Amino acid sequence: MVQEFHKVGVVGLGAMGAGITEVFARAGFEVTGVEIDDTALDGGRARVAASLSKAVDKGKLTGHEQTAIEDRITFGTDRGALADADFVVEAVPERLDIKRHVFTDLDRICPPGTILATNTSSLAVTEIAALTSRPGKVVGLHFFNPAPVMKLVEVVGTVISEPGTVELAAEVAKRIGKTPVVAGDRAGFVANALLVPYINDAIGLYEHRIASREEIDTAMTAAAGVPMGPLTLADLVGLDVCLAVLDVLWAEFRAPRYVAAPLLRRMVAAGRLGRKSGRGFYDHTREDVAEDL
Ligand code: 3HC
Repeated sequence: MVQEFHKVGVVGLGAMGAGITEVFARAGFEVTGVEIDDTALDGGRARVAASLSKAVDKGKLTGHEQTAIEDRITFGTDRGALADADFVVEAVPERLDIKRHVFTDLDRICPPGTILATNTSSLAVTEIAALTSRPGKVVGLHFFNPAPVMKLVEVVGTVISEPGTVELAAEVAKRIGKTPVVAGDRAGFVANALLVPYINDAIGLYEHRIASREEIDTAMTAAAGVPMGPLTLADLVGLDVCLAVLDVLWAEFRAPRYVAAPLLRRMVAAGRLGRKSGRGFYDHTREDVAEDL
């Protein structure tokens, strides 16, 4: 069945949506990427172009391949362009009110057979599915940052998933070169339920001055062989995203390990969100590392 999939839609072209668009286009799908306005659209287009150009610079892609990939992507601000999409991935900000608009629109615009996938990391897929008249065809498709690089895609089914929907989404994930892991709709799914409390613990160590941020990061890269230490990773993921995941874990399970470190909450309140805002635990506006917090 997945062989009949040709046209994919991606709604939201931030860091995740742009990466997802690139991944689908690289795998040979025709992709329509939709943003809310021209400014956001320009940003999304630039993200995809920069990522592909980097791959060309590194010799991993030829200029010809880059052009072919870009030719498979149509950018626009009109969700109506998704009327003939077979499969749509939503990657808009993690707010239910925003997702509600998107899913209500998609449900109206797309044919009844279209699978609607959400890249949510902190909202319940079931709640999003229930916003539509096709809850059985709504599935979680959770990519990891940076989407073009990370192999894992969590495929999240719900109690109202139609038979075959999860399997189909997992096949799509394989078709785009990812490793699907099927998970139930539970706060944090699998990876974030393990990863984000670990990041939170690292923030707690830093907050209590047990070690410097560099020492904490080095401890884990050197001890566990991870490519990034937890504070560097928090900056990559986004501190707001980390906090949102912890808050849903806490809301769902009320376990002490899910209580967000006070410093994390304060940094989000201060707008220090990590790479996307230029500053998190590290300063991303400068090549050299800034003073400690
Ligand atoms: N787009 C495309 N390719 C990229 C990229 C991007 N944004 N960023 C890096 N790459 C590629 C590079 O081109 C390079 O490819 P090559 O080895 O074939 O030349 C490769 O990835 C390694 O990149 P770099 O050499 O530039 O830098 P690093 O070796 O430091 O790797 C990293 C960067 C891939 C980000 C690596 O540090 C890493 O894997 N970090 C961990 C990331 C992680 O754990 N992500 C999951 C976060 S959790 C999440 O997203 C879930 C959410 O819901 C919270």
